[in-house]
Amino acid sequence: MSARVRCAVFPVAGLGTRFLPATKTVPKEMLPVVDRPLIQYAVDEAIEAGCDTLVFVTNRYKHSVADYFDKAYELEQKLERAGKSELLASIRDVLPRHVRAVFVTQAEALGLGHAVLCARPVVGDQPFAVLLPDDLIWSRGAGATRQLVELATQQKASVIAVQDVPIEQTRSYGIVATRDFTGRHGEISAIVEKPRPEESPSTLAVVGRYVLQPEIFELLESTKPGAGGEIQLTDGIAALLKAHKTLAYRFEGRRFDCGSRIGLIEATLQYALEDDDLRDAAKALMRQALAKG
Ligand code: UTP
Repeated sequence: MSARVRCAVFPVAGLGTRFLPATKTVPKEMLPVVDRPLIQYAVDEAIEAGCDTLVFVTNRYKHSVADYFDKAYELEQKLERAGKSELLASIRDVLPRHVRAVFVTQAEALGLGHAVLCARPVVGDQPFAVLLPDDLIWSRGAGATRQLVELATQQKASVIAVQDVPIEQTRSYGIVATRDFTGRHGEISAIVEKPRPEESPSTLAVVGRYVLQPEIFELLESTKPGAGGEIQLTDGIAALLKAHKTLAYRFEGRRFDCGSRIGLIEATLQYALEDDDLRDAAKALMRQALAKG
């Protein structure tokens, strides 16, 4: 049943309250790390994984996400006339030609599970990837989504990215219990949303990358609102793993929680240090700031 993973779903209809007041008008996914918005990093990761249909689940306030992937005629002409070919390429390359972007509206922020369900008419009956752009994953080799896609295809399973977190942080994550963990993956036996440390089945936390088999849609249709009155993706996955092979995968790479202010700052520092043009100046600034601190 496991076919090629062509669709990547980007649920970007959340309210982004942790970045207010900026997110009153700028969607969280459009916040930049150095010179690229978070959504661009996630899109590049999905394309690297072989996806050619990108489904953005947005709301009526997030037209800037669609605008970003649209052609900017005036700007292109201006850069072309000025001979600024590098800048021109940077705005033309936001999406390669073979990739199509589809925008789906989530009329009300009814939860991540509901946002994924909104993508059903586009995805149809095939396995698909889900990327939460505020989890930015830096990696030297294959991107996190590609790693997940390879395992999902090989094992004909759903695969969920996980990472180890300190026990006192379990209440900020979905946490999985696994059996037969070998190498980097193990079959999930249970998943719970934001457990208290003393009740947590493990310290393996779900990170915003998934490859899901299409059966999840039917299960999400019948998922009742859970924590916070929202339809939780975690509850849909809890139902999925009862009947379908669902693996936790400890990906290779470093994840930055850019849904939090400190995570966005951390990512900006890391990406600046990775950039040949910025590295020295960024180091000097950091040293100065620490000396003054
Ligand atoms: P978060 O839990 O980070 O919520 O959503 P949020 O609204 O984006 O941010 P805060 O907590 O208020 O600051 C996780 C992901 O699920 C999407 C968000 O856009 C984010 O990518 N989401 C969440 C939806 O698309 N729809 C929803 O109804 C809820």
